[in-house]
Amino acid sequence: MTTAHTGEITRGVRSAQPVSVEQIQTPAPLVEVSRVVRNLDRMADYARAHGLQLRPHVKTHKTPVIGAAQIRRGVVGLTCATPREMEITSDVANDLLLAHPPMGVKVQRLIDLPRSVSVTTALDSAEVIDHVGAAALAANRPIRVYVELDVGMRRVGVGTPAEAVALARRVADSRSLEFAGVCFYPGHIREPVDAQGRKIAQLNADLADFIGALEQAGLAPSVVSGGSTPTAWHTHEMPLVTEFRPGTYVFNDRTTAGIGACAADDCALTVLATVVSTAVGGQAVVDAGAKALGREPMRGVNAAGFGSIVGHDDVVVSAMSEEHGTIDLSGTSWRPRVGDRVRIVPNHVCIVVHLNDVLYAVDGDRVTEVWPVEARGRVTPFAPGPITAL
Ligand SMILES: Cc1ncc(COP(=O)(O)O)c(C=O)c1O
Repeated sequence: MTTAHTGEITRGVRSAQPVSVEQIQTPAPLVEVSRVVRNLDRMADYARAHGLQLRPHVKTHKTPVIGAAQIRRGVVGLTCATPREMEITSDVANDLLLAHPPMGVKVQRLIDLPRSVSVTTALDSAEVIDHVGAAALAANRPIRVYVELDVGMRRVGVGTPAEAVALARRVADSRSLEFAGVCFYPGHIREPVDAQGRKIAQLNADLADFIGALEQAGLAPSVVSGGSTPTAWHTHEMPLVTEFRPGTYVFNDRTTAGIGACAADDCALTVLATVVSTAVGGQAVVDAGAKALGREPMRGVNAAGFGSIVGHDDVVVSAMSEEHGTIDLSGTSWRPRVGDRVRIVPNHVCIVVHLNDVLYAVDGDRVTEVWPVEARGRVTPFAPGPITAL
């Protein structure tokens, strides 16, 4: 892969002078750079050790410098969920997968990506095949296709081998599309890592049925793309999978640590917050509420709260308003004071990232850089006209 951004992970938009964490207005996302580097290296090493292609999902970081860091570690390409992620990421990557069926204006945005980028899209319907195929033909731009399989999540994907064969044949027969493989997302497997065996065995059996039928039809997929962060470390036990797409692993979060897919000190992103009130007994209120943490439940393990406090791991944000987070102090002797700052490990880090314009790259209490979350939002290609309605 070539990359326009060749800088190290420590590159970004450098502030006029280094600042300490104390100077940052809260709430704010802090990213411990050494932990990100470790997370990136560990997954790249795992992929290499097992001969697997890694195609990380950028929806977790939405930050081109991190995409570039993933590419430097030898990934085969990157995965996106939105046209904006594709457009921003195309600055650093030349092989992109849209893991979301495109329709309407989104298709034109795919077609309009730089010609240097190999574009693949996942889909599960004849309608999307025909729509993308027509746009690709009109633009004389071939698009690669993964046919999406449902192996248990019940979100997208065809549910039977016969349907997979029919779609793969329709793609193969198209003049502008290339049948590049199949994909699936094992989002139904969120148990603790050491309790996933039964579901992974079922997944392997279902995949074998799908792929056997495709082979018999002369449509053997050259890529079988799957994987998530919860199942990442089991990917080598899925013998038919050739490529995996974890996203969350780059930062990890309280859920990922809760199910044992990372250690607590692999959580690289925390939300810095300030205690603003202790007036009501038994609790402290911080300035990080749902608009900073996201209202995400824990999944896969039975645990309360919307985030845990670094250094007080059993203490959680137990309730939130939009801009208030209530820390429950009933089970601890710790008594934070107004003005104290805390770092909160969020339940689901991807939601936190997309709520922020920038990430503060830190080394302990030192802010080393500021990384724009460039691919956030749903910016459309339409320029706003004059506003007269009000
Ligand atoms: C299609 C697809 N692939 C890959 C991923 C990455 O999974 P994770 O965030 O568990 O790493 C996601 C996450 O939502 C996804 O929807």
